[in-house]
Order: sequence, then structure tokens, then C-alpha cells
Amino acid sequence: VAQDLAGETFLITAGATREKIDPVRFISNRSSGRMGYALAEAAAARGAEVTVVSGATSVAPPRGSHLVNADSAEEMRAAVMNQLSSASVFIGAAAVSDYRPKTRLSEKLKKSTNSLTLELERAPDILGEVSKLRAGNQLVIGFAAETNDLLKNARVKLKEKNLDAIVANDVSQPGAGFDSELNAATFLSADIERELPLMPKIDIAHRILDEIVRMRQTKREAPKSETVAAR
Ligand code: PMT
Repeated sequence: VAQDLAGETFLITAGATREKIDPVRFISNRSSGRMGYALAEAAAARGAEVTVVSGATSVAPPRGSHLVNADSAEEMRAAVMNQLSSASVFIGAAAVSDYRPKTRLSEKLKKSTNSLTLELERAPDILGEVSKLRAGNQLVIGFAAETNDLLKNARVKLKEKNLDAIVANDVSQPGAGFDSELNAATFLSADIERELPLMPKIDIAHRILDEIVRMRQTKREAPKSETVAAR
């Protein structure tokens, strides 16, 4: 395997966060961790140093990476912030809760009434914070999990969060997205729109890394404007 990511330090989030309702219940989602772990394995195989901040997953941890476990969005945020300054590339592949219960019960919720309303509040937006803290040459790449208007919604996230790129996956497509062996996506940046058709997550991961290598080359060459103009 070409060591084209040697010298890069990747920080990747993977898996699902869990937001506690009471000591035995939580709000979560169907992320298995496969996509984030595939990115980690692929980047490590290509020579990068890799740290994965992992929520709940249902697959074996990635080879060649340093693994940090996190449960809730708040814990994932803290773990990411701890590692961020040493990362040259951040990829947010985790399915992080947008909302969490406003209060966490210290005792198990009792069945007493016929209906129950859970009040939720916003959980921290890890990707948004990482992007605001971006320093120097750091690349910040997000995912967008959409069930409708895929590219339109992903472009809004790319712009609003000021990301270098976003991987848009249509999670309503059968056999792709959450908890599946395969994925299909579009890699989007300000000037790239690359379709990645349905394939194993490890292959999608390598295609995403190919784009990152290209973005790095463009960034390095950017000051020599004649080089860019000549293309
Ligand atoms: O784990 P698998 O089973 O392999 O499934 C892979 C996947 C479908 C989970 C993955 O490919 C994927 O799409 N991950 C992002 C899921 C998601 O939360 O998407 P979103 O569109 O809600 O969020 C947009 C981006 O913001 C993501 O990079 C997410 O990590 C980040 N985010 C979201 C909410 C939040 N509170 N903090 C965040 O950082």
C-alpha cells in the first residue's frame, strides 16, 4: 500500500453516541462504527497516525489505531478536544445525537402514567466546534446522513459549518449507510463533487482518503498560482 498519508495525524469519530434517560435507558441510533473504523484502518495502512474516538459500536476495533471510548456526545466532544491540537485531519463519521434528555434521572423511571413526555435539549455540535477551532493546515471533514434532498442538505452543512469537505450518504438507500457492510456517497467540497457508488465501506474509505491526498496536494501547490492556472 502506498504510504501517501505518512506524516498525517488523523482524528476520526465513529459509532453512535448514547444519551442517558435514566441508569438503564438511553437515546441512540443504528450506527455500527463500520464507516469510521474503515477510515481508520485505511488511513493507518497508508502511513497515517490514527486516533479514533469511538461511541457505541457493534464491530471489532480498527487495526493500527489508538482507540478512545466515549459514551455521550458530551464525552465524545471532550475526547475530541483533548486530541484536536495534534490532528492534521479531522473526520466526523460518528452519528452524534443532536438532542439529549434535559434531565437525567438518577433512579430508574417508573411506569406510572399512561403517557410520558421527555424533554430534550441540544447536544454539543462537535463538528461545528472543531471547524471553528481549525488551525493552520488542518483539514476538517464531516459526514452528512440524509434521507431526502441529499446533496442540497449536505451543501448547506458544508457551507454553514465551514468544512473542507463533506461525505454525503443517502441513508434511506437499502443496503447502504447505517449498520450495513456497504455504503454509497458523494464526496463534496467547494470545487469537487465525486460520486462514490455502492461498495464495501473499506473501499469507500480509500476513495475518501484519495480525495484527501488530492486536497493536500492542491493546498500545497496553491501559493504558486501559475501552476493552478496552467491546469
Ligand atoms: O457506523 P455505520 O453503521 O458504518 O454507519 C455509517 C454512518 C451512516 C453513521 C456514517 O456514514 C455517517 O453518515 N455518519 C454521520 C452521521 C450523522 O450524524 O450525520 P448528521 O448529518 O446528523 O451530522 C452531520 C455531521 O455532524 C457528521 O459529521 C456528525 O458526526 C457531526 N455531528 C452531528 C451532530 C452533533 N451533535 N455533533 C456532530 O459533530
